[in-house]
Amino acid sequence: MRKKVIAGNWKMNMLPNEAISFITELEKKVKNTQNEVILCVPYTDLFYCLLTAQGTNIKIGAQNMHWEKNGAYTGEISGEMLKTIGVEYVIIGHSERRQYFAETDETVNKKVKAAFSYGLKPIVCVGETLEEREAGKAQEIITTQTKLALEGLTQEQVNHIIIAYEPIWAIGTGKTATAHDANEAIKQIREKVEELYGKEVAQQVIIQYGGSVKPSNAKELFETSDIDGALVGGASLKVEDFEKIVNYNQ
Ligand code: 13P
Repeated sequence: MRKKVIAGNWKMNMLPNEAISFITELEKKVKNTQNEVILCVPYTDLFYCLLTAQGTNIKIGAQNMHWEKNGAYTGEISGEMLKTIGVEYVIIGHSERRQYFAETDETVNKKVKAAFSYGLKPIVCVGETLEEREAGKAQEIITTQTKLALEGLTQEQVNHIIIAYEPIWAIGTGKTATAHDANEAIKQIREKVEELYGKEVAQQVIIQYGGSVKPSNAKELFETSDIDGALVGGASLKVEDFEKIVNYNQ
């Protein structure tokens, strides 16, 4: 049985004082959950969040990293820097980074490999645009992105990766993919993982859905056969919403 993994992606939101209050409040509400809880926060909140979340069941992640260990890359943060302060997870290849910061399948793959080399667990995002979906290319796009993101990884690494299927047209738009459609897309990703790494790995790998997940639709999404949780944007900024998503089964 795969665990449900609910990760918040705060994007470019939350000042340190807000982050500390959020975790202090959230911690009391999610302490009994069997689901895994992760918050992926801005770099400037990481240290505060790590300290506040110490001793709780809330794990902390970053939202991006560079693939090099160090060097002349002004403004960048490396996997080693994240790991050293205690970060466990890192989002890689979010569609906003692909769209606004020129990330490609190649840089995504480099970052995934670098993340593993420092013992970080990557949350790799894949997803199609509305035009690609309407042109009937969604399956091809998401399976190709998955293949390229995982290229060169070992079975053991793929066992520890999280894949987030985030259809771009559903992000921040209020439009959620239907539970059925999201589950079908995730099954296709799982089949690709099976083709590349075998059935055992494919049955184990966590594949989340992301795109306008909220308290009102979380349960339906999570009760499908293949959706293993969510990467939550907007609804992860309010304790009362995020807590309800985490506790969807209580
Ligand atoms: P929303 O939940 O705001 O649609 O964002 C989804 C997302 O991009 C999470 O990474």
